[in-house]
Amino acid sequence: MPLHKENILIVDDDIHILELLQRHLTALDFYTFKAVSVKEALTILQSRTIDLLITDLNMPGVDGMQLIKYTSEHFPKLPKLVITGYPSVDGALEAMKSGVVEYLTKPFTKDELKQAIAISLKEKKPKVTKTPRQQNAYGEIIGNSKAIKSVTQIIDRVKDNKATVLINGESGTGKELVARAIHYNGKYASAPFVAVNCGAIPENLLESELFGYVKGAFTGANEDRKGFFQAAHKGTIFLDEIGNASMATQLRLLRVLQEKEVVRVGAQKVEPVDVRIIAATNFNLESRIASQKFREDLFYRLTVVQINVPPLRDRLEDIELLVDKFIFKYGVEYKDKLMPITQEAINILKRHHWPGNIRELENVIQHAVIMSDKQITVDSLPDYLKFTIDFPKETALLPLKAVEKQHILKVLAHTNNNKSEAARILQIDRKTLSQKIK
Ligand SMILES: Nc1ncnc2c1ncn2[C@@H]1O[C@H](COP(=O)(O)OP(=O)(O)OP(=O)(O)O)[C@@H](O)[C@H]1O
Ligand SMILES: [Mg+2]
Repeated sequence: MPLHKENILIVDDDIHILELLQRHLTALDFYTFKAVSVKEALTILQSRTIDLLITDLNMPGVDGMQLIKYTSEHFPKLPKLVITGYPSVDGALEAMKSGVVEYLTKPFTKDELKQAIAISLKEKKPKVTKTPRQQNAYGEIIGNSKAIKSVTQIIDRVKDNKATVLINGESGTGKELVARAIHYNGKYASAPFVAVNCGAIPENLLESELFGYVKGAFTGANEDRKGFFQAAHKGTIFLDEIGNASMATQLRLLRVLQEKEVVRVGAQKVEPVDVRIIAATNFNLESRIASQKFREDLFYRLTVVQINVPPLRDRLEDIELLVDKFIFKYGVEYKDKLMPITQEAINILKRHHWPGNIRELENVIQHAVIMSDKQITVDSLPDYLKFTIDFPKETALLPLKAVEKQHILKVLAHTNNNKSEAARILQIDRKTLSQKIK
């Protein structure tokens, strides 16, 4: 008897095959998840821990081969088994090269299926001594840059202990992703991960939200209730936006960190807390301390280990990988096909400053996928990115016309391509501006 049932995701556009497979797999004592398209498969892969992917190759729209390539990159340790009704030698070869361990041709018997699964699952086991729950290691954190590798190295060092971690980084850099990676890749992964937005807790509910209450503690307290800290017992509590926590919240948190125990509202006895604390902020806490908006003692309690998540502009070499991921995500969602992106468009993305970081990049690609038919070109990018093209160096000596063009583009970029607003700034009428744009 296996210690636990494995989760198998089956992907096939033929419902009858899905049901047949599910019957076989249930009989073999596996849990199954069914998807009729790559789109559905992705949703499941993102929300569940899957131990084996079984997929058909030929499907309308985005096909099984593209799913295999994607998962080989983003879930490298996930074993894959291909099932197809069209045994083409080429298809098989391509699948093997992209990391598929087994290959099954329809029709197959239950025994053949069982054997193929056993081989697929065994392939990964001797290599990883960790529990199979960890196989999706950092699947979501994409990047080959030095900057992102130094982040994953720290994740490796803290994931299996309960050291308090402070994650610093601009908005949209992936702080929450890092926090989840620490939790879900470590040995406390089966315990809860509880995210708390510190800036959003109203003062009057603070104590009861964080530490819970007992029945009768106040009007409306009709039963005992857990707080965030009890809910995260043995797991991780993620204190997001800690820089926004009120002074009262900060004081409460400091006490928990010092005493390692909490008291529910209305209760007498203290409860020990056993949680790992991860906090995140996009503020520079040192300057918040200087302006007396953040407690210095709390800061030192929180910064046993610090992780600085780099802004996207410092890891531009990761742009292509990230773009690939988002083209896949939105190509599947909106167009049921994957569109290539031109080098020219990539060049523009690499020149942008990315104040909104990865979240901004994701929005840009989502926009571009919607606006494109066959491929993503410069034209499919949002206007505000286009107007940053080809600004010659400030020092170059330019003809008046070029300077005028440059200046108009700058103003348009500034106004988000609002022509009336741009005309007002330039002190010319709208018609003249339209002519010049032409
Ligand atoms: N390295 C990465 N690889 C792939 N996707 C990423 C990466 N970093 C961030 N993302 C994606 O970018 C988005 C923003 O990430 P996240 O919410 O973790 O950022 P954040 O730093 O918490 O932002 P905020 O400060 O605004 O709350 C998410 O959709 C996340 O999946
Ligand atoms: Mg966040």
